[in-house]
Amino acid sequence: MLFLLCCSTIFLVCGFSEKDMMTRIAGITNSPLIRASDITVAYGDEIILKNVSLDVYQGEILAILGRSGCGKTTLFRALIGLLELKGGEIFVDGEKCPSIVEGGPKDLMKKIGVLFQSGALFSSMTIAENIALPLIQYSSLPHELIEKIVALRLAEVGLAGHAQSFPSELSGGMQKRAALARAMALDPKMLFFDEPSAGLDPVTSAELDETIMAINRELGTTIIVITHELASVSRIAHRIIMLDGQEKGIIAEGTLAELKSVENDKRIRDFFAVLN
Ligand SMILES: Nc1ncnc2c1ncn2[C@@H]1O[C@H](COP(=O)(O)OP(=O)(O)OP(=O)(O)O)[C@@H](O)[C@H]1O
Ligand SMILES: [Mg+2]
Repeated sequence: MLFLLCCSTIFLVCGFSEKDMMTRIAGITNSPLIRASDITVAYGDEIILKNVSLDVYQGEILAILGRSGCGKTTLFRALIGLLELKGGEIFVDGEKCPSIVEGGPKDLMKKIGVLFQSGALFSSMTIAENIALPLIQYSSLPHELIEKIVALRLAEVGLAGHAQSFPSELSGGMQKRAALARAMALDPKMLFFDEPSAGLDPVTSAELDETIMAINRELGTTIIVITHELASVSRIAHRIIMLDGQEKGIIAEGTLAELKSVENDKRIRDFFAVLN
């Protein structure tokens, strides 16, 4: 407590916000929940990420930014063990992430909830069946308990009463929230979102951000989110990394204010100039 108070004073004197402060404290005191060490990822001979290192800390919301095609989804898929690494290693929660050729990350997937870019729910299944799927796949919980968890997850994302609907009967924003409920089904330590607000109107997008922040705040879930929405980044991200396709890796890391104030890198300046 004393440590927090001291840090609070130091950071306030230095002009950092409380959000900056908590992120920096997390970086100082916690070992990373995810550590990517010098990873290289390629599709065939085409290298997309070269010697990339990244730490993700417990309890933070990390946003991944960068131009289309720079490798955000590729990094995302690599971090959850869905791609074979050409080099380097990934550790999740202290354990080396087995690559797809080593049988894949089945155990790790219990700790990770994922909302893919396509967000795809299975259209032939009800919302409840979609959310129950990871519970059936990765746990041996009895049917009655699974039903209770599904109801709880639906309530958490504001979709109570829609358990028996099919995805096509929900709006785009509701489908995203249903996919979020499915990602949270196993009460994961980490949630990965690939462009959760794509295709949503600004108000629905802000509501989804509120849900994401509430999950982070109330459950302490570590969240990695890829997004092109600057408003969303400014609302939810504690820390940002920016990828660049030519560099094949990370060209900037920091808070939004820090990245927006970069003057000596045209790639970063141009990115924020267009987004503004
Ligand atoms: N399965 C694949 N096979 C071959 N090349 C791929 C594959 N997936 C992605 N790529 C290529 O890798 C590069 C990075 O793609 P990625 O999907 O990671 O980009 P991104 O930053 O997520 O882009 P966006 O913002 O458009 O989603 C692109 O050049 C893309 O064409
Ligand atoms: Mg992508």
